[in-house]
Amino acid sequence: MARTRLLADYRPFPFALTETRLRFDLAPTATRVRAELDFAPAVPGADLVLDGAGLRTLSLRIDGVEPDPAAITMGDETLTISAGALPGGSFTLSTEVEIDPERNTALEGLYLSGGIFCTQCEAEGFRHITWYPDRPDVMAPFRVQIRSDLPVLLSNGNPVAAEPGLAEWHDPWPKPAYLFALVAGELEALSDRFTTMTGRDVALNVWVRPGDLPRAGFAMEALKKSMLWDERVYGREYDLDVFNIVAVDDFNMGAMENKGLNIFNSKLVLASPDTATDTDYERIEAVIAHEYFHNWTGNRITCRDWFQLCLKEGLTVFRDQQFTSDMRSAAVKRIEDVVTLRARQFREDAGPLAHPPRPDHYEEINNFYTATVYEKGAEVIGMLKRLVGDGNYRAALDLYFDRHDGQACTIEDWLKVFEDATGRDLTQFARWYTDAGTPEVTLVEAWDEDEAGGTLTLSLSQTTKPTPGQPDKPPRVIPVAVGLIGRNGGEQRPTELLELTGPTQGWRFEGLGSRPVVSALRGFSAPVVLRHDLDEAGRATLLAHDTDPFARWEAGRGLAIDALIARVGGDTDAGAAYVRAIGSFLDGAAADPAFAALVLRLPPEDEIATLLHDRGIVPDPDAIHAARESLARDLARAHEGTLAALFDAMEVPGPYSPDAEPSGRRALRLEALSLLTRLDGGARARALWDGARNMTERMGALASLVRVGQADDALRGMETEFGANRLVMDKFFAVQPMAAAPGRAVEIARTLAGRPDFDWRNPNRFRALIGGLSANHAAFHAADGSGYDFVADWLTRLDPVNPQTTARMASAFETWTRYDAGRRKHARAALERIASLPRLSRNTAEMLTRLLAAGG
Ligand code: TRP
Ligand code: ZN
Repeated sequence: MARTRLLADYRPFPFALTETRLRFDLAPTATRVRAELDFAPAVPGADLVLDGAGLRTLSLRIDGVEPDPAAITMGDETLTISAGALPGGSFTLSTEVEIDPERNTALEGLYLSGGIFCTQCEAEGFRHITWYPDRPDVMAPFRVQIRSDLPVLLSNGNPVAAEPGLAEWHDPWPKPAYLFALVAGELEALSDRFTTMTGRDVALNVWVRPGDLPRAGFAMEALKKSMLWDERVYGREYDLDVFNIVAVDDFNMGAMENKGLNIFNSKLVLASPDTATDTDYERIEAVIAHEYFHNWTGNRITCRDWFQLCLKEGLTVFRDQQFTSDMRSAAVKRIEDVVTLRARQFREDAGPLAHPPRPDHYEEINNFYTATVYEKGAEVIGMLKRLVGDGNYRAALDLYFDRHDGQACTIEDWLKVFEDATGRDLTQFARWYTDAGTPEVTLVEAWDEDEAGGTLTLSLSQTTKPTPGQPDKPPRVIPVAVGLIGRNGGEQRPTELLELTGPTQGWRFEGLGSRPVVSALRGFSAPVVLRHDLDEAGRATLLAHDTDPFARWEAGRGLAIDALIARVGGDTDAGAAYVRAIGSFLDGAAADPAFAALVLRLPPEDEIATLLHDRGIVPDPDAIHAARESLARDLARAHEGTLAALFDAMEVPGPYSPDAEPSGRRALRLEALSLLTRLDGGARARALWDGARNMTERMGALASLVRVGQADDALRGMETEFGANRLVMDKFFAVQPMAAAPGRAVEIARTLAGRPDFDWRNPNRFRALIGGLSANHAAFHAADGSGYDFVADWLTRLDPVNPQTTARMASAFETWTRYDAGRRKHARAALERIASLPRLSRNTAEMLTRLLAAGG
């Protein structure tokens, strides 16, 4: 079963593919695909090995002639034509196969989503469409013909001809098969145009189902902003006559950057104030940008093999983060990104699924579309930019585009560009790509009042715990941005970038007069865990005065964490310093509401569990929940008046706008509401629900009502009003298991799973309910194992239908070994139950092997 792929086994493909011609005769259960592939040998005497899976092969010819059957060997997912049966020079391979889109529930290859034919080929989906060298380093221009009665027939590139029943597309830019796309269906377009920096006119379309057009406008605006931004900031221009975006309801992930034909999960396209929240709008803008930016970082320059995935994903995430910072608040965006990095990537890095941003082996590549490849991949680029400086970064990127346009590249190519553009040796830096695990950096201060007018010595040391398969972790280069704040609040020293390269190093700051407060890891300058024993007074000073917004937020976070950990340990009154510091902070909160909302939010329970585990304490999910609730209540009680005033003051009058400023006000308002609900039993939340003028207010109110068990009326109202809107109903399915009291959440989830509209084959609906429960820390980790069982039962059911989504959701179990023996026993039993399924998918099997290996 296991078929480990190794980076070390990479060999170039022994043929060049000069053109790919495809013809599709679409039919729901029997689509015919004819392929003509023009090959030229690159290595004499090589066999031709093609990938294919689940294809009914009808014919195969070389230059029009059927080869001797003895020359053909069928493998598990391959077809080999022996060298002897191939002409010495160039030749055309023609095949015809039949496939069944209707029965394709895995959603890779060609499938039907609500009557729309669509494709998903990354990473290895094209082999479900036809025989092909399905690997990213084989690139070719494509000509595609689509025959179908459906009105809209789309593929990559430029349209070259269309008549009723037939469309023809030509994509002149050589691309790997994973970027192929086809869409056919009854769709309507919101259309617009964009003029590029050199004056070329591009037709833009956002294709949606009839009826959804009024919700497509925001996506179109986001697309135009993205195109302009990539020209301005990276000098990158779009390169086809058309750019199409299609929204489909059944999709395994967020969206896909197919050349000239991006396909999106409809939840990342469709938005109106009454159906989408501020967070949805922000994500839509970011993902539209992300997929558009892939046109250069991913498509024009692609990956040599799938081990290099972070070459395109890390860079493209980094670019979309920059874009969002420019469109909205850079400070808020940075903190949001750190919050997700810690919640998802640090968690991954600390458990059985840890892997480097560039892995060197895998069983199933779809299991490596992870927070480490994406978000840590982006952090690594952020560090690189910090280390070389903005000007050098731009020069290196220019060189990257110049040197590698049209190529399939590696991380080594990427680093070489930086070395050549800056003269810097990046040998040690490369460890960030090859080594897994989150470094822990310890900062120790020594203050000498009498030396050189007051000298502060900072010593930094680093260690990284072993990760699966990597016992030893040599030191990395870690950029630690440090500033010094005076005890009275003024900035004593501006930000300085300390480069930690060894296990331990020291830095001296002289002539300081009085002892400053050290503001360390400013801007979260490296993806590390910082241990810095700053006292409560120092933290309060930073929260009040730090000029670096991340460090300021982090200071408040540190106070909250100390309070929570003490409370979990039985000191039920801990946190006076935190409550006091938040009190002073709230006085100025209205100046930057989005930032204030982040400061007010307590760390999630899962993060508290991680922190306890790091300190050698077995986390008790119920105690963590209780501690967090009690701290929230104490915070609310201490500042009830101020919070109530903020709740009123942050109301946003007038028509809805998803812009940063009004979103920030709503975020602060809802953060205040969440705290106040702990005191008023839901009175304010109910009033807000009744008077809500947009989905942001509704969902904020609803989450608070669910938390206090007062949501029945609101939920009924939601069903009545939005029962037919899938995206809104996904929220209905998610908020209940996620926000409910842990003792009730599993029961609630079970009831929801029994509803006729729990269409579990739809990934969004499945993720809403099953993911919603997994996100409720104390419910998923219920002591009786009911949370584990519920999730395991559903993973068992989904695996035969959709392995990709099953395997992704299995990561809910990635922390199972850190809990007590009772919970571990239940978790192991649940995992073993899934693992024992007779025909478990390769995707899920790999995840379970890795998860169970952690248990010893
Ligand atoms: N390349 C896509 C992105 O990051 C993500 C992706 C990979 C994907 N495989 C997928 C999306 C499968 C949907 C289904 O933008
Ligand atoms: Zn991407």
